[in-house]
Amino acid sequence: MSGRDRGATTPLLELERVSLAYGPVQALREVSLAIRPGEVLGLLGDNGAGKSSLVKLVAGVHPPTAGTMRWQGRVYAPRGPRDALEAGIATIYQHLALAPRLPVWHNLFLGAERVRRSWFAGLPVLDVPRMREEARAALARLAIAVPDVDRPVAELSGGQRQAVAIARALLWNARLLIMDEPTAALGVRETAEVRALVRGLEAEGVAVLLVSHDMQDVVALAHRVAILKRGRLAALLDADGLDADRLARLVMTAEAA
Ligand SMILES: Nc1ncnc2c1ncn2[C@@H]1O[C@H](COP(=O)(O)OP(=O)(O)OP(=O)(O)O)[C@@H](O)[C@H]1O
Ligand SMILES: [Mg+2]
Repeated sequence: MSGRDRGATTPLLELERVSLAYGPVQALREVSLAIRPGEVLGLLGDNGAGKSSLVKLVAGVHPPTAGTMRWQGRVYAPRGPRDALEAGIATIYQHLALAPRLPVWHNLFLGAERVRRSWFAGLPVLDVPRMREEARAALARLAIAVPDVDRPVAELSGGQRQAVAIARALLWNARLLIMDEPTAALGVRETAEVRALVRGLEAEGVAVLLVSHDMQDVVALAHRVAILKRGRLAALLDADGLDADRLARLVMTAEAA
């Protein structure tokens, strides 16, 4: 997709001068941003710049103290993470929020298990065969192989766990996936696999807000890059032609407007 094509579509998510204060701490100051369908937007900034705070606003963890969010053109004011998920915004936090002892298929459906009426007294029972089948199909869409949906998540690699978390988001029909440091704990091969996962999401029209300290990740994946500095949007750049060194310098030197 060219930059012009992306510009022609209505933004999925728009932030209009949003601010967030934690008591006296001003974590975000009048940030305006838009994310388009299928776009990977890299979100960069030093420690304490406000990246996680921005994620929490969009994910419904905190409401903004000022400003407006819009989702698919309508005012978006989630009362909690559940509202965000139901709207189509899924967040994958660094710790992933998976249940390590449960099998892969159950992690995909946790909190939203498929049930069927039993033939005995018509009581609802878990529809395990259906969930295993749907889990297999969801994972088959992704670039990382998770061989056995019956294995507990504890036995998976870091990259495979990311795949489970992403498959779960896709099952919820997420249109925007927020990933906070997806490759921070991964080895070289797994990092490459997670990058392939993110590229696959783009092909499905799913937008990604990618928070990362890894300039290589951002250069490899993002269409545009937003740089936060002390809670302000300091720069919003097209990723074409950016390299990791230049990006790192921008994070250090970009001054808030
Ligand atoms: N729950 C909280 N209560 C008070 N202040 C907070 C809270 N969470 C974050 N802050 C402050 O808000 C500012 C932005 O923090 P935030 O976590 O958004 O930064 P970040 O860009 O994600 O940093 P990092 O790269 O270290 O994860 C910081 O000054 C931080 O100390
Ligand atoms: Mg953070």
